[in-house]
Amino acid sequence: MIYLDNAATTFPKPESVYENINKAMREYGANPGRSGHKLALQGGRAIYETRELLGNLFNIDNPMNIIFTHNGTDGLNLAIKGLLKPGDHVITTSMEHNSVLRPLKAMEKVGVKTTIVECDKIGLIDLKDIENSINDDTKLIVTTHASNVTGTIFPVKEIGDLAEKNNIVYMVDVAQSAGVYEIDVKDMKIDILVFPGHKALLGPQGTGGVYIRKGLDIMNMKEGGTGSKSNLLIQPQMLPDKFESGTPNTPGIVGLGAGVEYILDRGLESIRNHEKELTRYFINELKKIEAVKIYGPKDAEKQAAVISINIGDEDSSEVSYILDKVFNIAVRPGLHCAPLAHKTIGTFEQGTVRFSIGPFNTHQDIEKAVQAVGKIVKQI
Ligand code: ALA
Repeated sequence: MIYLDNAATTFPKPESVYENINKAMREYGANPGRSGHKLALQGGRAIYETRELLGNLFNIDNPMNIIFTHNGTDGLNLAIKGLLKPGDHVITTSMEHNSVLRPLKAMEKVGVKTTIVECDKIGLIDLKDIENSINDDTKLIVTTHASNVTGTIFPVKEIGDLAEKNNIVYMVDVAQSAGVYEIDVKDMKIDILVFPGHKALLGPQGTGGVYIRKGLDIMNMKEGGTGSKSNLLIQPQMLPDKFESGTPNTPGIVGLGAGVEYILDRGLESIRNHEKELTRYFINELKKIEAVKIYGPKDAEKQAAVISINIGDEDSSEVSYILDKVFNIAVRPGLHCAPLAHKTIGTFEQGTVRFSIGPFNTHQDIEKAVQAVGKIVKQI
């Protein structure tokens, strides 16, 4: 199987991820942060180490400002619903995933107002359109860092500066960029950073997190046991306990830590260059096939390793089915849970066939994908 669905979940993972999950379950599978025995302490330490590694990766001073969640969607819900109050205005973009748009739509029912800024045909945002949408009630700007449909990279630093200048909270969904691109919450003026663990951070499914800048007032949606201040019937307000009720996913978090360690050891630049090279080659080869329409920037410098295409008017699910069945190539068709992004690039009816490259794909994988697309074109 040639796996080119890394934007959904990266596969495979570094060997150390499997090993560390196994070790966490076999060697110290106790409940961290509850009891004081050796195994519970070992689990607690391992979780803290993952927080520290993530802090290093994103330049976060205090690892306790990182909250573990089940995935990116979970983190976005926590932050969007915990931050916004009736009357608040939010600015977002037409390239967002439903994990941003649906919570915002749900908040409209309680009086939150949303402006969705339209991006251009390649999925790019114009900073002026964000600036022109700001009003006295604007509490939050929330954008993706890289589109999961076209890979288009957003000018996060510029948006962060704009938000800071206007005293607006800036939240970034780094689902498609964390683990490949430099993300520095201080330099980019990011107040809230939301990341899944199972994509380019190379952890297992069921992991993710949110960084919340010190001093931001976010309401918790859940209450429960935290292993801290257990004499009180009210939720502790210190981070991360305020948002981390119940037994954590220790094996998952430990696996995520091994993924981040791999990234820090190999280096973001090395991973990015590898993916950039394969993206460049893939786009150049696809351009030579006449019936293929490529969406997005068509430029490896301006997009993450996510390449959306169509073959003529052929249904994207049909093409993906053939890729899987005949050529043993895994991709994702359809709308990728981002309907407005597809409206923006003009593929709402057809969807797209999305190839997404990961750190373990090879040149040969991409050659085979090009050959498969060429053969499908000839047959239909
Ligand atoms: N959000 C993931 C994707 O784009 C699942 O495929």
